[in-house]
Amino acid sequence: MSEKEIVLSGIRATGNLHLGNYYGALSKFVKMQNDYDCLFFIADLHALTTSPDPDALHENVKNILAEYLAAGIDPEKATIFVQSDVPEISEMYLLLNMHVGIGELMRTASFKDKARKQLGLTDNGDDIEKQIIGTDSNKRVNAGLLTYPTLMAVDILIQKAHKVPVGKDQEQHLELTRRFARRFNSFYGVDLFPEPENFNFGGHAVKVPGLDGSGKMGKSEGNCIYLVDEEKVLRKKVMRAVTDEGPKELNQPLSQPVENLLTLMELTSTPEIVQSYRDAYADCSIRYGDLKKQLAEDILKVTTPIRERYQDIRSDDAYISRVVRQGAERARERAARTLAEVRQAMGIRKF
Ligand code: TRP
Repeated sequence: MSEKEIVLSGIRATGNLHLGNYYGALSKFVKMQNDYDCLFFIADLHALTTSPDPDALHENVKNILAEYLAAGIDPEKATIFVQSDVPEISEMYLLLNMHVGIGELMRTASFKDKARKQLGLTDNGDDIEKQIIGTDSNKRVNAGLLTYPTLMAVDILIQKAHKVPVGKDQEQHLELTRRFARRFNSFYGVDLFPEPENFNFGGHAVKVPGLDGSGKMGKSEGNCIYLVDEEKVLRKKVMRAVTDEGPKELNQPLSQPVENLLTLMELTSTPEIVQSYRDAYADCSIRYGDLKKQLAEDILKVTTPIRERYQDIRSDDAYISRVVRQGAERARERAARTLAEVRQAMGIRKF
């Protein structure tokens, strides 16, 4: 076995990857794979908690795999796999659930959010528990959604990962994972699971803003630039990005929409270019058309090679299946070892 620390991260199979995924995760994974024992996987079972169309699910898994590979994740360095290819995960999920409280799952923020959406509730009232229990079967909250954190904990614990690079929104799930690891270890008097920590490779987390002038870039916000956006589409999106009416006074503070565009520019352009637009805002000579043209140009420099590689990989089914088969084999080897230990600890033993 290797001596390197184990890094593991997963992404739900729900749609294409955007610049936020790239700068927040993918570009860091590409660096991590040189220094750590990395496992990156597509969480297709987690995607089932929000009932995707079966054909769309399979396409999404393939798209994300091709995007990972196109962005530079190297299957010779890192283990790339699909969650459902590792049946040991499903078995351990059942076993770990015996040590997880319904209450602690129901208190999870992401569960409350998604349950509210599934029930079509808009308010933030506290009676969500009553609504869940009392609701008729047409509008149900599925049990898979409730146990989402168990499944995620198993993804991590079954590989005995030390470091888990995830965004802020996943911090609570990671906290639960640590709690479950401690609980299991102490209940059975074993030392099976390390407590995984969040991993921010190279310092602070980057927040990638969207093009709508408000928050973070996100799939559900409709404010995304996708890695595989065609050149024309990408340019159009950037040219339509929200700005403001232009600075009215010298040295006035940046408005949020313009700050957002400059943040995107900081990720993709040179510091000199960014500074020149900051200066132009300060002295009121800024022209948003120029800023956007420059921004689109610089984003394309990042995404075009990825998109081109993506197109080649996406149409090479044989290559994709070779990669996932090899990944599954490696992931299963470790998973099977851990599962055997878990079964042993819990008293499920061979006759
Ligand atoms: N829940 C994560 C997300 O939505 C995806 C995920 C599933 C994951 N299993 C994981 C991330 C294990 C890290 C480790 O982003």
